[in-house]
Amino acid sequence: MNSPEVDGAPVKIDFDDYSGDYEKLLHDSTKLYVEDSEYFARYKVDLISQAQHRSIKRVLEYGCGTGRNIRYLRAAFPDAKIVGTDVSAESLRIAAADNPDAVFEVEREGLELVEFDLIFVASVFHHIPPIERQGVMRILAQRLAPGGSIDIFEHNPFNPLTRRIVNNCPFDADAVLLRPSELRALFRGAALDLRRQAYCLFIPPRLSWLLPLEKYMGWLPLGGQYWVSAGRGQ
Ligand SMILES: C[S@@+](CC[C@H](N)C(=O)[O-])C[C@H]1O[C@@H](n2cnc3c(N)ncnc32)[C@H](O)[C@@H]1O
Repeated sequence: MNSPEVDGAPVKIDFDDYSGDYEKLLHDSTKLYVEDSEYFARYKVDLISQAQHRSIKRVLEYGCGTGRNIRYLRAAFPDAKIVGTDVSAESLRIAAADNPDAVFEVEREGLELVEFDLIFVASVFHHIPPIERQGVMRILAQRLAPGGSIDIFEHNPFNPLTRRIVNNCPFDADAVLLRPSELRALFRGAALDLRRQAYCLFIPPRLSWLLPLEKYMGWLPLGGQYWVSAGRGQ
């Protein structure tokens, strides 16, 4: 798939321009589904933390933005070193102010980060131009400890509400959504073994009595997002 263009030039969103308004824009674009957009951070970190069966000493959130997931990662893995990276220095400034017990680094060529037991990536790959995605996945694979996992959440392109939200959200102007099959191919291209794939975020939290059903629905391609996990070794 090609990246969106304006006057022949590819659109690229600079999240430095959105860091101050990020919370409000996210809330405005998702309020039909959920009143409190913190829900997304809690929900995703709950899912990945419940799936870990080994000791987690080092966690990387790649593309952590303003750090909305970091406090939940800290709570889920209280003894781990937590590192957040992003290409947006302004977003990281906010993340660092809110999370003094985590370490933040601007993503750049040659950044040396290694041996993470868990690499968490949420809503980042659709902002990376398709041609660059395999290179990014290889870098993430190099940062993984033996037996560790990379857990990636992405918007579900099969869900019409998700597509509507993306089409109306200003910071998604450069979004090129990926199907799960593309993410699986990127994992394979980085010599990683697929461990899990599940659709998620089906039921709005106001229907909380139905939420326990979600764990039986991972196969159904109608969730707002999906989650793919892969790793190397046991
Ligand atoms: C929609 S935000 C998601 C932020 C965070 N993961 C969350 O769940 O709140 C996408 C983030 O990806 C970052 N990003 C885009 N391209 C990136 C790249 N190539 N490497 C690292 N981060 C990138 C943006 O700067 C932005 O902070």
